[in-house]
Amino acid sequence: MPSFCPPSESSSPVPTPLFSVPSTPETERDDCFDEPSLAAEEAQFVLVTGGLGYIGSHTTLELLKAGHNVLVVDDLSNSFRHVFDRILMAAQLHFERVGGRCPRVELACINFRDGAAMAALLAAHAVPSLDHPLGRSNITGVIHFAAFKEVHDSLRNPLKYYQNNITGLVDLLGLLDEHGIKTFIFSSSANVYGTLARDYGTLREEHCVHQPETYRDANGHEVVAAQGCTGITNPYGRTKFFGEAILADVAASDPAWTIIGLRYFNPVGCDPSGLLGEDPRGTPSNLVPVVVQVLTGQLAELSVYGSDWDTPDGTAIRDFIHVSDVARGHTAALAAAQEQRVRGNFRAFNLGTGSGHSVAQVVAAMEGVSQRLIPRRLADRRPGDVESCVAMADRAAVELGWRAEKTLQDACQDLWHHLHLNDTTELCLS
Ligand SMILES: NC(=O)c1ccc[n+]([C@@H]2O[C@H](COP(=O)([O-])OP(=O)(O)OC[C@H]3O[C@@H](n4cnc5c(N)ncnc54)[C@H](O)[C@@H]3O)[C@@H](O)[C@H]2O)c1
Repeated sequence: MPSFCPPSESSSPVPTPLFSVPSTPETERDDCFDEPSLAAEEAQFVLVTGGLGYIGSHTTLELLKAGHNVLVVDDLSNSFRHVFDRILMAAQLHFERVGGRCPRVELACINFRDGAAMAALLAAHAVPSLDHPLGRSNITGVIHFAAFKEVHDSLRNPLKYYQNNITGLVDLLGLLDEHGIKTFIFSSSANVYGTLARDYGTLREEHCVHQPETYRDANGHEVVAAQGCTGITNPYGRTKFFGEAILADVAASDPAWTIIGLRYFNPVGCDPSGLLGEDPRGTPSNLVPVVVQVLTGQLAELSVYGSDWDTPDGTAIRDFIHVSDVARGHTAALAAAQEQRVRGNFRAFNLGTGSGHSVAQVVAAMEGVSQRLIPRRLADRRPGDVESCVAMADRAAVELGWRAEKTLQDACQDLWHHLHLNDTTELCLS
């Protein structure tokens, strides 16, 4: 593997864990385990962009557990090098427990928008072939997480979002096309539904489509879904909508592509090993990372935006889904794409639980598992916020054979376990 990556950073905010871990694998090596590697021609890889981020790291782990070799591309703009070591440790622990050999995982710390670096990486994964001028790639699918994701930052810096999330996507698709890599899983978001969440109890995929679709509503009436979406309130959400639209156009232009857009609702929690977590570089704005900052003493109190919604406790309702369930949603989507089980060659799926919890319920659940009070301040609603945003999760269940299995309580317990294992904060002192 070329030395694309810096060593783990000692300055990272996640300190050395206080627990005993298996000996750290040599992370500059390609393999999880110290065994002879497969010849390059025999190995097949899944390319995961943004694979050291919150959802990407959990998905990389689930891919390894499911037997895939993984090539991670991440420029560390919102993650840390040590996450790679943690993925290896968690995978190693898994295979020690269940037996079997850990697949290969490689890391390239590059910007996926750096065309030359990406071309070199793809060339290193191409096997000479008479059929293809650039060689036949041993990358059989791509899961594209790498993007900027902060709604409020996107309002201040829209071009930064369009450059990374849209220009980057278009250029990446061009490069993959040249290399004949045409199985693509895209990180989309419930944000594509915009303010439609105000009009519907639960959001179904047909509420935002890029090609005409018909479906039967709850009363059995046939409905023709109009293309497009209304009321997306921020540039970040628009990048996800435009991204999907571009992918739908690409799929429509060439049947060799199989593209899946996964619309995540509100991923929370972490892997039960406690080794992985949500560890952004900047100031988080999502509920659970902010709750964590309060619990770890980095923030004095939690601001609860909106306490006068028409909900049982007045706080907004969201579809919180355990991040490991989201990660498994990717292995299910990849399997469906690779086995040609996808209806059409562009298909969107909600990844949600199908039921909602309020902000106050999440805070209470975290207080329950931590046995600590979380100081909070009731603040005004934020522009663009909606009262309730919950997925209809049936399409993924029927077509991908995937359902969320874990509860909000599981997510909170796993998160608390992670915080304890990584404790250098006031957690243990109080
Ligand atoms: N976390 C959520 O609540 C949520 C909800 C819906 C959708 N999403 C989407 O899911 C994806 C992953 O989200 P996440 O929460 O894991 O975010 P994250 O910021 O933790 O992970 C993104 C990763 O991509 C990397 N990255 C960003 N730009 C890059 C570039 N140009 N080149 C290489 N690496 C780059 C970052 O360093 C980071 O490791 C994003 O596309 C996000 O928009 C997230």
